Amino acid sequence: MSDIEALNEQLAGLQEEALKAFSGATDLAVLEQLRVAYLGKKGALTEVLKGVGKLPPEQRPVIGQQVNAVKQALATALDAMESELAVKAKAERIEAERLDVTLPGRSGPVGALHPVQQGLDEITAIFSQMGFAVAEGPEIENEFHNFDALNIPPEHPARAMHDTFFVKGLSSGENAEPMLLRTHTSPVQIRAMRRFLEEGHEPPLAVVAPGRVYRCDYDVTHSPMFHQVEVFKVDHDVSMAHLKGVLKHFLSTYFEREVDIRLRPHYFPFTEPSAEVDIGCVFCARKGCRICKGSGWIEVLGSGMIHPNVLRSVGIDSSIFSGFAFGLGVERLVMLKQGIPDLRLFFENDVRFLRRMGS
Ligand code: PHE
Repeated sequence: MSDIEALNEQLAGLQEEALKAFSGATDLAVLEQLRVAYLGKKGALTEVLKGVGKLPPEQRPVIGQQVNAVKQALATALDAMESELAVKAKAERIEAERLDVTLPGRSGPVGALHPVQQGLDEITAIFSQMGFAVAEGPEIENEFHNFDALNIPPEHPARAMHDTFFVKGLSSGENAEPMLLRTHTSPVQIRAMRRFLEEGHEPPLAVVAPGRVYRCDYDVTHSPMFHQVEVFKVDHDVSMAHLKGVLKHFLSTYFEREVDIRLRPHYFPFTEPSAEVDIGCVFCARKGCRICKGSGWIEVLGSGMIHPNVLRSVGIDSSIFSGFAFGLGVERLVMLKQGIPDLRLFFENDVRFLRRMGS
């Protein structure tokens, strides 16, 4: 066999071998290795070209054409294979990264209102549904609204009983008015009645006033800040029967069962007559237990008929109008409803407690 024939045969073999290897490549990296192996500077084709030098000069262009043809064929095959593998690689990537956009998202932890706030909202809503208008007043009050207008004159012993926090430095000068943190929500009675009359209305007036109150008192069952809801109504011929009806409806709605109630005579300066209200113990159905201290009854709020002096202090004629009022402690009602044993749990903000109470 002549040199040129041998070279031609070598080229044909190389082409066949390379095309076979290209079509067997499984990914782009392997294909690149094959390109270098056959077409690279030190590749198989270059190796064949070295033999060209041995040929007589007139034969060289002939074999040169052959070499170019092989190069061309290999390059075309490489391109085709490359795009085929690129399409395959893309399809594989899409498959691997497939997302099911219809799956529900992973949700983060959800916060909840503090149990006292939940109680306030719940209690306020019950009265709203009965037609009471929601009112609020300031937590920093003057003595007029917190005491005087509520028939608690300066020397009245009830003032001392209120464990008042006085606030210094809010106004200065000789005639600076003493200010205090309100000791109950009853001052909102005065503010709401005054505003109502100033706006030119006439009773009936029915108000629910939720809010924070403060007393300088701290032990297992008392916190210096706690929450009350004040409820009152003024109209012609309002009686204790209305008071009792509203209380019974409210307490049964709040505790989600028919509760027994009892009114015990009591004294508040701003109501006459006054009564403390007990509910039949929700833990023992009035049989007597640790919570109700064996009595079968639990005190839940203070109430009464608005004192004529209170109506007079805002300019309502007590010979024409009468009213009932009551004030309840929110923490106490929430504790009774949720079976919370210790008032301090509300204020320690232990997340385990708050999570359990969140809904
Ligand atoms: N303000 C009273 C208290 O804080 C509760 C109360 C309100 C009593 C309205 C009677 C009428 O103890």
